[in-house]
Amino acid sequence: MLSQNMKEALNRQVLMEAQSSQAYLAMGSWAEIQPGLKGVTQFFFRHSDEERMHMLKLIHYINERGGFGIIPALDQPVLTFVSLKKAFEQLFEHEVKVSESINNLVEIALTEKDYATHNFLQWYVMEQVEEERLARECNDKLEMIGDDKSGLYLFDRDIMTMDKE
Ligand code: FEO
Repeated sequence: MLSQNMKEALNRQVLMEAQSSQAYLAMGSWAEIQPGLKGVTQFFFRHSDEERMHMLKLIHYINERGGFGIIPALDQPVLTFVSLKKAFEQLFEHEVKVSESINNLVEIALTEKDYATHNFLQWYVMEQVEEERLARECNDKLEMIGDDKSGLYLFDRDIMTMDKE
């Protein structure tokens, strides 16, 4: 059985994952209307689907443990970006915030001696390590590429295989 505090904290994470899904959905839609970003477009849309899966996993867990997974209202995400680099910078910053939030949940679970939730959260802890690594890698590559069109062409092609390990 989840404590009231834990239920509320997990539901805040549901909101965060839903917002992540929306943010990456918006990035996907923006990328789709830019020339030559087919690979990036697919990357953002797939990432959005993954965030939805993260959200669903939490909802099921909250419901299984006697709580109620609340489907949140969402703010409209950022719709346009001055550059692909800016979009990826935002993605990285967002993932760092998600990691902080997951760490905070782990701390609550430990304080409350809720070891089942602590165990459940370990999957998210490791997922965040991968998400941050991937986002950092994309940012580093885009930094190197700068305004080089052929570099961007290769980035767009390679991002389809640059996935989580
Ligand atoms: Fe579910 Fe990218 O955090």
